[in-house]
Formats: sequence, C-alpha cells, structure tokens
Amino acid sequence: MTVMSLLAAGQFYRYNMTDLIEALHKNKDLPDAELKTIIENGECEQKLFETADSVRRSYYGTDVYIRGLIEFTNYCKNNCYYCGIRRDNQKVERYRLGKEEILSCCKQGYALGFRTFVLQGGEDAAFSDELICGIVSEIKKLYPECAVTLSLGEKSCGSYQSYFNAGANRYLLRHETANTEHYRALHPDSMSLESRKQCLWNLKKIGYEVGSGFMVGSPSQTTECLIEDLRFLQELQPDMIGIGPYIAHQNTPFRDQKNGDLHLCLRLIAILRLMFPDILLPATTALGTIDVQGRELGLTAGANVLMPNLSPVNVRKQYELYDNKICIYEGAAQCRSCLENKVEAMGYHIVTNIGNRKTKKIYVN
Ligand code: 5AD
Ligand code: FES
Repeated sequence: MTVMSLLAAGQFYRYNMTDLIEALHKNKDLPDAELKTIIENGECEQKLFETADSVRRSYYGTDVYIRGLIEFTNYCKNNCYYCGIRRDNQKVERYRLGKEEILSCCKQGYALGFRTFVLQGGEDAAFSDELICGIVSEIKKLYPECAVTLSLGEKSCGSYQSYFNAGANRYLLRHETANTEHYRALHPDSMSLESRKQCLWNLKKIGYEVGSGFMVGSPSQTTECLIEDLRFLQELQPDMIGIGPYIAHQNTPFRDQKNGDLHLCLRLIAILRLMFPDILLPATTALGTIDVQGRELGLTAGANVLMPNLSPVNVRKQYELYDNKICIYEGAAQCRSCLENKVEAMGYHIVTNIGNRKTKKIYVN
C-alpha cells in the first residue's frame, strides 16, 4: 500500500520518527506499535531528548530535586535473582543501622540541604513495625518540614498504614516488570507480580505519594515487556517513576547476564517524561554506574531528581545491589558537592527550599 492509499483509507501510519515524537509529545500516548518504534529506534534520539527536556523545563524549569538515601539494612528475606543483597548471597557482610545512626545521617543530610529522607532497606524482619514507626516519628519530630520516604518492600496493608500514621509521606516500590512471565523469570516462586501490584494499590489508597518503576535491560525483557510497564504505570499514575539499567552482580544467579543499555534507558526516561509530563523522574545511581556521564545524560533526557547516598561510608560497600556501584567511598558532603557541580555544568540547579513544586500539589521538597 502506498502512503496515499493508506491516507485515503484513514489509516495513516506515522512512519517518520519526528512525527512519532511529536505525536507522543502532543497526545502523551501512542499505540503500542508506535511506542515500540520509539523505544527500539536510536535514530532520532537527540530530537526525543530535546523534546523531553522542553517538557521538563515547562513544568520544572531548571530545578533538580535531591533526596537523601539512607540504606539502613542489607538483610533481606527475598531471593530475587538479580539482586546483590538477596538472601542466598553468603558473601555479603550484613549490617543494620540503629535508630541513632539513622538520625545522625538525617542530621548530616539536613545540614547539607536535604529535605527528604529516603529510608531504604531489604525486607528485614528485625525492623518491626514498631521500630520503623519510632524512627519515622522521631525524624518527623526533629524535622517537621521534611518528607520521609520509605522503601522497605512488600508489607501488609496494616503495616503500611501504621508507618503512614507515624508520619511517613511517600513510599518507593518498583514493580520491576509488569509482565507476569517476566516477573516469574526474575523472582522465585515466593514472590508474585499480583502481590507487588496489590501493595502499590494499597499504598495509593492509604494516601502515600507513590514511586514505582522498573529495570531496563533485565534478563529476558522484551520491548513488549517495556510497553506493559508503561501501560501499568498509566494505570497506577504514580508520583515518581524510577528506572535504571540492570547491572549484573557477581554473586547472583544472573551474574553472566548482560547489562542494560544506557541509550535504551535514556530513551525510556524521555518517553516517560513525554507520557507523564509532571512526574518526578530520578537519574538513578545505576544510570551513573553504567556510564560515568549517565546521570548527567539522564537529566538532559528529562530526569529531574537525584538521590545521593547519606549512609555512613563504612557500610556503603555492603549495599551493593549490582557490581561497581558508584559513590562507595565518597561521603554525603562529597556526593552533595559533586552533584552540585554536575548539575550546574549541565545548566540545571539543585533546589532545597520548600513548597516550590509547580504541579498539582504543594510538596515539601
Ligand atoms: N541492577 C540494577 N538495579 C537493581 N536493583 C536491584 N538489583 C539490581 C541490579 N542488579 C534495583 C531494583 C530495586 C531497586 C532498589 O534497585 O529495581 O527495586
Ligand atoms: Fe557521589 Fe559524585 S555523586 S561522588
């Protein structure tokens, strides 16, 4: 069929990349077949990134938000095939930070301008709900204008509710992949996509601001899986979407699998910015690990958040989810100023003051 006859039949297919990018920009959506083309096609990347950057600028200007990550336990009851802190990795030295150590990370972070603390850990039963609630309420008491984000994996609805009641504002739980078979290929039978999704719905219902996301280039992922991820996110409508390349870890069953691709990851960041114009989109540590310039490139492709580490340097090496993770030896202050330089060099600015979100809700930073 010629283009003319397609047009006549009312089935004009946008075969030109520029048209596709413009259509995604305008409609914030595309049919699956067209999404597939944009995801797989590196040809017009620059145009894609520039369009995403223009959208990020129209919502956020040159603002970059920072969130201080505190990796407080690397004990985990789960055994995800890709993850360096999986239960069966006997080679990792396990650690837990005490309440006072966590509070001291917050204190240091606060002095450096952080106004969001992200408490992230493996699924560790030693941190009872009571303990978590005590830590959350203490942080909120000491820093009432700060947001507390939790990232502790799958918990019961009751547990999520108790953390929320204690003052937690946000929760990060990546869905990892929205395709059932792919989920099965990445996780042992004790885990399921269904319960993952249920947790996300529970978190939303309770009133958390929710972050989800997925790995790019994880073993057996196809473009169709990625499209399912995008469709699921359209349904979920989270506040943040965290994506980063899969990176092999030497002490996991996936040690020989190949790493995710930087450019595929950047294209997905840009696509997410066009589909979810006001979303919070971090340039992740994994992106900075796969390429020295990864996070900077992420910012220019539409990302607007950075989440540096506030954990004590002596435990950082032990929270290695993947090989060669960056910022293992740099302290909080060092990462903070390193990021300031990187962000400024790209023409963006880190913001630390309060109430400057330009979208539907007024957030603390
Ligand atoms: N490579 C990249 N990302 C990983 N994560 C866990 N293991 C890896 C890995 N090997 C991501 C998961 C998890 C987040 C905290 O880190 O998506 O949700
Ligand atoms: Fe940690 Fe650059 S962000 S050293």
